[in-house]
Amino acid sequence: MRKKIIDASSFLKKLVKSPQSIGAVMPSGKKLCCAMVQAIGVDEDQLYIEVGVGTGVVTQELVAAGVPEENLYLFESEEGFIKELKEKFPKANVIHGDAQFMQKYLTALGVGKVSRIISSLPFKSLPKSVASNILEQFDMLLKKDGKIVQFTYAVSEPYPTSFKTINNLVAKRAAYIAQNVPPATVWLYCHRNKPS
Ligand SMILES: C[S@@+](CC[C@H](N)C(=O)[O-])C[C@H]1O[C@@H](n2cnc3c(N)ncnc32)[C@H](O)[C@@H]1O
Repeated sequence: MRKKIIDASSFLKKLVKSPQSIGAVMPSGKKLCCAMVQAIGVDEDQLYIEVGVGTGVVTQELVAAGVPEENLYLFESEEGFIKELKEKFPKANVIHGDAQFMQKYLTALGVGKVSRIISSLPFKSLPKSVASNILEQFDMLLKKDGKIVQFTYAVSEPYPTSFKTINNLVAKRAAYIAQNVPPATVWLYCHRNKPS
């Protein structure tokens, strides 16, 4: 409970400073984080990119489910979250950087494509050009048998239809978490003809 309150207060401070990029009133609830992990699946041999990490609530569930911390590349643009992320996940690759430039950071670390991308980025509230640059990065970084999981508070799909068409992806509504504040839908994107 104490940890939850500390997380919420850390989150609120950043929200007041940068409402557009934080895009949520509090960290995602446990049910939503678990649904994200369940949708993307756990594979100890794969590298995972997580973008929009915040206080690390989704990361916590990934690690608890068995993803090795070393396999995690955690991107967060808000400097105020970085110290606590490094303390919580000392073996993970915590990257203080903008998701628009993920490939540049990963190349410097010797990482090419990955097969799992987990995003909590507030796509609907980001400027259009930023959202489009980040989707371009997803496309460049995702292996052909890869998957992307994304939650949204919106009724509609989080990414524009053109992103699916251009990249030959299919989207599946993986879960709806009514108990989250606000309620959220988890979407899973896979390449066409690949099992989800
Ligand atoms: C809705 S919060 C999600 C936080 C956490 N994953 C959760 O579920 O509670 C979105 C996060 O994305 C981060 N963010 C926004 N734009 C970003 C960008 N361009 N690159 C990296 N992180 C970004 C924000 O700082 C914020 O921590």
